[in-house]
Amino acid sequence: MASGLRGIRTVRDFEFKDKVVFLRLDLNAPIEDGKITDETRLRASLPTIKYIQEKGGKIVMASHLGRPKSANDKEFSLEPVAQRLSELLDAEVILAEEPLAEAIKGLTMSLKKNQMILLENLRFESGETKNSAEFAQTLAGFTQIYINDAFGASHRAHASIHALPEMVREKGIGFLIEKEIQMLDQLLDNPKRPYIAVLGGAKISDKIAVIEKLIDVVDGFIIGGAMAYTFLKALETPVGKSLVEEDRLKYSREMVERIKARNKTLLLPVDHVISTGIKDGASAKTTTNAIIPEGWMGVDIGPQTLKNYSNLLSEANTIFWNGPMGVFETPEFSKGSFGLAKAVAESKALKVVGGGDSAAAAEASGYASQMSHISTGGGASLEYLQGDKLPGLEVLRKAKTSEKMEAKV
Ligand code: 3PG
Repeated sequence: MASGLRGIRTVRDFEFKDKVVFLRLDLNAPIEDGKITDETRLRASLPTIKYIQEKGGKIVMASHLGRPKSANDKEFSLEPVAQRLSELLDAEVILAEEPLAEAIKGLTMSLKKNQMILLENLRFESGETKNSAEFAQTLAGFTQIYINDAFGASHRAHASIHALPEMVREKGIGFLIEKEIQMLDQLLDNPKRPYIAVLGGAKISDKIAVIEKLIDVVDGFIIGGAMAYTFLKALETPVGKSLVEEDRLKYSREMVERIKARNKTLLLPVDHVISTGIKDGASAKTTTNAIIPEGWMGVDIGPQTLKNYSNLLSEANTIFWNGPMGVFETPEFSKGSFGLAKAVAESKALKVVGGGDSAAAAEASGYASQMSHISTGGGASLEYLQGDKLPGLEVLRKAKTSEKMEAKV
């Protein structure tokens, strides 16, 4: 059964007027040469920020960005994010270099109506990823209401996601997380059938837990990306020098047996786009069957495979897509992933796209707006679907329980 919102309060449940609100967002956007190259996560955060602002809250936003080694890794500064948020919100976003409790408290007291604070990259503080109680205490020093809207980071037991809300009584989620939960729950609670899972990307090992969970839930699997070569090799189809996880061959063979034993559909590539390498200038061609010759590697699904996959998707009533079909960043190898995005988009099904690479592929294909939901969290959406408890959500549920207990005493 899905976890749902049980016990978690949303922004609608709080009185924000004149309260200092710690708003944990996932503003982890790709940045090149100081420019944000994809602002999906910023835009997805706007409704909650605007709502709290309209309700008169004093907003202190916080996020991580990338995986800096120390505070000296200035390329991971949230400066470009602060600038872009100011434009998107038509407000002044003050970037606070250090999250010192007294200094932030002072700043919040002088905040004007159209001003808000953004703390510098939380991961510049070593306590963040260690889920340090001491660091959380610093943040709690100025927090009156805690709101988590960072779905993409809610699977991390980090200080701003876990230790901090443990210390704060008034806590809940924003609109972004609420929508993520509502959409992902539709895949867990009585999904409309047929339900097809499209899994791609490089590694089976990253997807094992979700395959295990989905095997009893879905009606069929479509497999693409480099994952497919491990399955094909396990079934003794030659795959040349394609990426293969040798230590997963046995698992893949057993998985095929288990899917068959349940009378479920499993579609694997029957042709491929192959190349001598993935670097520019490498030769590429399309095979007429599933065999990949020596010296060549699979880099995308072939046209017949795309037809087969599209046909199955056209009959589906629920689709979950996670992982591209090939190296879609290279235009010559993008037809499979973009064609698949088109097939998903054109289907009448509820279509949910996992975050990360599949979100990027959906975006690059031009079909993103036709999906029912594109998750802002890659790892987080997979963990949620495989039934794991996300620390950032559980801590907000626990709140209710302990409050109820307190009330009884
Ligand atoms: C993401 O990009 O998936 C989230 O922001 C989490 O980032 P992380 O994997 O570095 O924790």
